Amino acid sequence: MKKEITAQELNTEAFIQEKVKDIRDAVGDGMAINALSGGVDSSVVTMLGHRALGPQLRTIFVENGLMREGEADQVVAFFRELGVEVEVVDARSEFFAALKGLTDPEKKREAITQTFYRNVFGRIVRESDARYLLQGTILTDIDETVAGIKRQHNVFEQLGIDPKEAFGYHILEPLIQLRKDGVRKLGRALGLQEELFARIPFPGPALAARIIGEVTPERIETIRKATVVIERLLKDSGAFQYLGVLHEDRVTGMRDGKRDFGQQIEVRCWDSTDARTASPTRLSFDLLERIASEIIRDVPGVVSVTYNIASKPPSTIEAI
Ligand code: XMP
Repeated sequence: MKKEITAQELNTEAFIQEKVKDIRDAVGDGMAINALSGGVDSSVVTMLGHRALGPQLRTIFVENGLMREGEADQVVAFFRELGVEVEVVDARSEFFAALKGLTDPEKKREAITQTFYRNVFGRIVRESDARYLLQGTILTDIDETVAGIKRQHNVFEQLGIDPKEAFGYHILEPLIQLRKDGVRKLGRALGLQEELFARIPFPGPALAARIIGEVTPERIETIRKATVVIERLLKDSGAFQYLGVLHEDRVTGMRDGKRDFGQQIEVRCWDSTDARTASPTRLSFDLLERIASEIIRDVPGVVSVTYNIASKPPSTIEAI
């Protein structure tokens, strides 16, 4: 495996030149596809891929039904400004069918991985001439998967899985030596809008990583609405990442003078530099109370809001 390049060591111009050459050498005059989720890593890899391949690269946003509010439209608009056309593929029903009845975290992750790589991309590749998928795996994804903490949805080779055999195409991972801070520095050098490369991290399994228990369209809608409130109120917090978690347990609350056996949202807000360790941000109690009251106001069925005050480790940033 290639050696880590820290953000300080990273010479962005030399790195871009080297990766552009590697991608061109691998793909030749064929076609490649890249999966854009709008997250920092996939946005940076999209720009790098376009620099290398131009019209030989098709960029696809898979609408898996697990994304944040307005995400597909926003991502398409950002990339249009950069001259990159993004195709949106609607695979919502496939993802929800694969997740039906699953409650175990690793089984949920596996269902998302298989649906994404085998079904959706497998089909796109079969129906096109592309033999390469370009994706934004970074070093932290590998570390956690290899350590057995979390199976990140985009890690194969390090687990002994050959994507060509398993899914029928090769995977190129030009960011594999970097961590998040290095990826951001590269994003800036590639001319990506600050709104994109400075975004808080968002996981591949998307909002499904923030639901304890079964992932259904209704439960996604609940965490999606809570996420709107949390992201709006914490965007100026300076934190590394912030998110909500929908719990499975219900608690007794009251609404309109009646008992309401309702849902619970946990708020998490992390200070971190590279996601390997993290500690809860010391948010003011006033801000926490505002988050709680706006979640209860805007998200039907929620009667309890908590704030996580444990660090990683032993916590992890996402909930599943
Ligand atoms: P954890 O939850 O393991 O997260 O402390 C560390 C960082 O990685 C992100 N994360 C993921 N990113 N696919 C990804 O692309 C995944 O499956 C995944 N799981 C967690 C998480 O948001 C945090 O920034």
